Amino acid sequence: MTSATAPGKIILLGEHAVVYGRPALAVPVRQLGATVTVTSSDLAPAPTNASWLERISIYAPQVGRSGPLANFPVGSSPDPLAFVIKSVLDMLSVEPPWLHIQVDSTIPVASGLGSGAAVSVALIRALSSHLGKPLADEQVNQIAFETEKMYHGTPSGIDNTVITFSQPVFFIKGSPIQTFSVGKPFTLLIADSGVPAATRDSVADVRRLWEQDRDRLEVVFSCIGSLVMQARSAMRSGDLDSLGKLMTRNHALLQELTVSSPELDRLVLTAMSAGALGAKLSGGGRGGNMLALVQEADLEKVEMALKSAGSRKVISTKLG
Ligand code: PMV
Repeated sequence: MTSATAPGKIILLGEHAVVYGRPALAVPVRQLGATVTVTSSDLAPAPTNASWLERISIYAPQVGRSGPLANFPVGSSPDPLAFVIKSVLDMLSVEPPWLHIQVDSTIPVASGLGSGAAVSVALIRALSSHLGKPLADEQVNQIAFETEKMYHGTPSGIDNTVITFSQPVFFIKGSPIQTFSVGKPFTLLIADSGVPAATRDSVADVRRLWEQDRDRLEVVFSCIGSLVMQARSAMRSGDLDSLGKLMTRNHALLQELTVSSPELDRLVLTAMSAGALGAKLSGGGRGGNMLALVQEADLEKVEMALKSAGSRKVISTKLG
C-alpha cells in the first residue's frame, strides 16, 4: 500500500491577471489536503488479459467518482482522474497490476482552494511510487498542469505549481518557479462564501471581456501585476498595513473583471468593518473563498463577524 498527500492552496494576489502573463502570489494551505492510497488488489479476477481500465478501481466519494476505471469517460474528453492515471502509466511505460485507488480529500471542491490540483498531485505521487518509479517534482507538475487544463480550460499553472512544490510561490506563467520571503509572520482568515463556483466559467468570462476590450483589460491586468510586486515587497519588509491595502485594491480590480459576487463583497466589507487590514476574494471568484489579513488581536472578532455574515467555514493560516 502506498499513500501520498498534497495540500490545498490559496492565491494571495494576482488571480486572473496571472492567466495573461502577470505575476501572482500563492501559498499552500496545509490544514487542508488530499490523500491518495494505492493498494495492489490480491482479489484480481480473471481475465488476465484485462485492459488497464479494467484492472484499476477508484473510490473517491468527496469528488463524486467511484467504481472501475472502465466506467469512467476516456477518449477525447476524459475524466480527470482517468487522465492522470493514463499519463502516469504512459510516462513510466508500465502495465499496471490490479489496483485499488482511494482518494480522500478535506478540500472543498469548486471553492478556490485547489481541490482538483491537490488530488492530481497526490494521485501522481502515490501511483508512481507504488509502481516503484516515483516521479520527480517537475514531472508531477507537468502531468498536474495538463490535468488542470481539463478543469479550467486555460489555466496559468499556478495551482499545480504551488501544490506540487508545497511552498509559497511568486508565479509568472512559463517562468521557473520562484518563492518569496516573509519578514514578519502574519495570519490570514480564509472564509467560504458557501457558493460553489467553477473557475472555468469565470476564466472564460474574463476572456470574453478581454476579447471585447483588450486595451482596458490589459490596463486592469497590469494594475493587478503592479499590486502583486508591491505586495511581495511589503511581505518581505513586514509592512502588513500596506499588504492589507494592496489586497483590498486587488479586490476592487477583481470586481472590475466581474468575478466578485454579492456574497464575496459582503464578506470583504464585513472583514474590513471588523478590523481586518485588508480583504479580497481568492481564486476564480463568483463564489468560493475570500481571505482577510488580520492582526492577532482581531482574529476572533473578524472570524465571528464573517460567520455572522454567512460564511460557512472560516479557517486561519499563518505565514512566515
Ligand atoms: O479558482 P482557483 O483557485 O483554482 O484559481 C484559479 C486562478 C485563476 O487565476 C483564476 C486561473 C488560473 O489558472 O490562474
